[in-house]
Amino acid sequence: MTQVIQSYPLHPPAHPATEKPLPPCNIIIFGATGDLTHRKLMPALFAIHGQGLLSDQMHIIGFARREFTDHSYREEIKESIQTFAPEIWKEYESDWPKFSDRIFFHRSEFDSAHGYTWLKKRLDDLDLCSATCGNRLFYLATPPSNTSEIVKQLSAAGLNNPGPDRATKKMNPNAFARIIVEKPFGSDLASAQALNVELKAVFNEHQIYRIDHYLGKETVQNIFVFRFANAIFEPIWNQKYVDNIQVTVAETVGVENRAGYFDHAGELRDMVQSHALQLLTLVAMEPPISLDANAIRDEKVKVLKSLRPIADYEIEQFTVRAQYDTGMIESKPVPAYHTEKGVAPDSSTETYVALKMEVQNWRWAGVPFYIRAGKRLPKRATEINIQFKNIPGILFAHMASSGVEPNVLTIRIQPDEGISIRLGAKPPGPRMKVESVELDMTYGTTFGSQIHDAYERLLMDAMLGEAALFTRDDEVEAEWAYISPIIKAWGESETMPVHKYSAGTWGPDASVVLLDRDSPGRRWWDR
Ligand code: BG6
Repeated sequence: MTQVIQSYPLHPPAHPATEKPLPPCNIIIFGATGDLTHRKLMPALFAIHGQGLLSDQMHIIGFARREFTDHSYREEIKESIQTFAPEIWKEYESDWPKFSDRIFFHRSEFDSAHGYTWLKKRLDDLDLCSATCGNRLFYLATPPSNTSEIVKQLSAAGLNNPGPDRATKKMNPNAFARIIVEKPFGSDLASAQALNVELKAVFNEHQIYRIDHYLGKETVQNIFVFRFANAIFEPIWNQKYVDNIQVTVAETVGVENRAGYFDHAGELRDMVQSHALQLLTLVAMEPPISLDANAIRDEKVKVLKSLRPIADYEIEQFTVRAQYDTGMIESKPVPAYHTEKGVAPDSSTETYVALKMEVQNWRWAGVPFYIRAGKRLPKRATEINIQFKNIPGILFAHMASSGVEPNVLTIRIQPDEGISIRLGAKPPGPRMKVESVELDMTYGTTFGSQIHDAYERLLMDAMLGEAALFTRDDEVEAEWAYISPIIKAWGESETMPVHKYSAGTWGPDASVVLLDRDSPGRRWWDR
């Protein structure tokens, strides 16, 4: 057994959001040699550690199939933090020796009962010789095809319960065993339901944390505060004042090295079912009765259940799918999707989706929600635009250059996080004119502090048992209940095209038509 740190922290560090100290625990990462662990999880844990927030009584156990020793695994993690999170490395470099002492590696196949028995023994030992209190946090950073097997094996080894407490040698009633499950959660409604059944046969719902990392983004949480901590927006946040709402999730990256997954999944499953729908629910939800996780999720589920299903015969009118062709991104040529490594040459997988959605409830009746998500678009930009209704065309309509544009409230999720509102204003001068101007609040200038990665917040919340930023069982099923019929209709339609768009453009013309057809001149608010 390698070194175990045994001191109790005198002043337990506190999670900045909740002001509660993070509890001691063992974190077990399945898929410890994978991309997510290297790019996101370890840098996030290192940053939390560097900020002095992690409990001293914590160990990270990497569980994976590849061959590593504790030492060689630590070296690999060091390199990946240096490569993928250089700023975090620079800031906390001196903290590395202390952090790396807490990392261990356990080689095993995911279906080897022996591997889990051994893991249990190791965790029990750690619990008994340090003050981890038996708390366990399992992170499934593995492909979805491994989830069932890992969950079954955890159950068979009795790892769905907390471990022993050092003081009593028994299970502490306040200890926890939690499991974080990465997206994609299933690939359609039936598989998501089946996965929920499997998970809930082993863990209680309150032990299960389904990740959608967009919920951990600072500005996504600010949608909630912006709406419910200000008196001036709620009265106009409805069909009487809002003309349409647009959610854009644009990326410049292509399929990268994930063709094996993406070519089967496509953009609708990859980005819309999870991230884009979550953004929509936060914009459209009613105020919850409290900040309790279930109160918030109850309201989000109501929005998802109010989405009007797109009927098969409407599929071409309400949805657009497309795939990127050759083009230029940031002045560099990029290849067509179907020629990318690992993609089938005749692939018809969509890398771009645009949808017109309707939230059929009292607040939003008649307001279209347009959603678009795409890879290889001209810039990385996730934002929500709320376009308000036009003013009556009485006072300014006669002006030759009548620049009276609608008010648009923009919530910039990333990059350049902030909120702006487009207003009409009179420019100085003798003539009466109206020009569009922007009131802009950027996070960087206003708060001056660096924005932390979403995974930092989500890992801390999972340790604390704060579930508000995780997706509940009925929520993920409600997402799929909306998305699955679209996938089915696309598969069955003989006429629904997969448009092409040049990489580095905002997608196919069909996505422009989607808005213009509803109201001539209506357009996407590109920046
Ligand atoms: C992931 C998707 O969930 O989110 C990826 O699987 C996508 O395809 C990524 O690139 C985008 O995340 P972010 O935080 O960079 O916007």
